[in-house]
Amino acid sequence: MPVMSKPLVVDNVVKRFGRGDGQVVALDRICFEVDHGDFVAVMGASGSGKSTLLHLMAGLTQADGGHVLVNGQDLTAMNDKRLTLFRREHIGLVFQQFNLIPTLSAAENVALPLRFAGVAEKTIQERVATMLGKLGLGSRAKHRPDALSGGEQQRVAIGRALITNPAVVLADEPTGNLDSANSDAICRVLRELNETDNVTIVMVTHEPSVGMYARRAVFIRDGQLCRTVDTTDVADAAALGVMYQEVLSGGGSAAPTHDARDDEVDRPVSETADV
Ligand SMILES: Nc1ncnc2c1ncn2[C@@H]1O[C@H](COP(=O)(O)OP(=O)(O)OP(=O)(O)O)[C@@H](O)[C@H]1O
Ligand SMILES: [Mg+2]
Repeated sequence: MPVMSKPLVVDNVVKRFGRGDGQVVALDRICFEVDHGDFVAVMGASGSGKSTLLHLMAGLTQADGGHVLVNGQDLTAMNDKRLTLFRREHIGLVFQQFNLIPTLSAAENVALPLRFAGVAEKTIQERVATMLGKLGLGSRAKHRPDALSGGEQQRVAIGRALITNPAVVLADEPTGNLDSANSDAICRVLRELNETDNVTIVMVTHEPSVGMYARRAVFIRDGQLCRTVDTTDVADAAALGVMYQEVLSGGGSAAPTHDARDDEVDRPVSETADV
């Protein structure tokens, strides 16, 4: 059996914005690893660095230090062209604003990454139909985004992110524009994809009720990871909310971790990685 690389490794990543007195250290030596089939919620206050981290993991922003490896490939060593091709094939992206193409139908939006990849038309039709069915959008295939609800649009965006079977799906506040019923529906879809198809997901959120759908929650404060919790050890969203408030108010860095895996989060990847 070939040794499989981890879908995602973030190794000592640093990101600064601006210069001199106005400089902001958005990410300060972040290390963490994501295993195949994991579902991680990245949680933290506004401005704590969540989106910056997600953009770095997607290769949309260049790091000032450290490495980001997806399937064992170092994004920080790739030029723009290689990065674009690599991202198309290996990384699925979901944003708060669904970012669908308004003139294309749901099916055509989901098909886009396969068209870019030059996949045969018949295969595209089959895979898109299967994906739409899985997302409960079978009867919405021909609708354009403006004829879909917010929750349906986000499911189309998830279908587009997943259609290439990427190593990891990165979602930045995917429920941020949805009411609570649609938000729950999207979380259930992500959880089911994770449980049944082993889809690896990293999702940014600041809502404990959303974070509870993940397998673990990673808290970030002022650009540093300060705590990881296994959500199966957490009673409910209210309990996760209490931990979140502790992190927001400055606690958390010295908090006990819950399992051996949490230790990995705080150690440099060089000590732990087997990639
Ligand atoms: N392009 C940029 N130029 C300058 N500063 C930036 C830029 N992008 C982010 N920052 C700063 O970096 C820090 C982290 O921002 P980031 O967008 O990652 O936060 P966030 O945790 O996603 O917040 P939110 O919950 O509001 O989305 C903030 O202080 C922000 O002002
Ligand atoms: Mg953000």
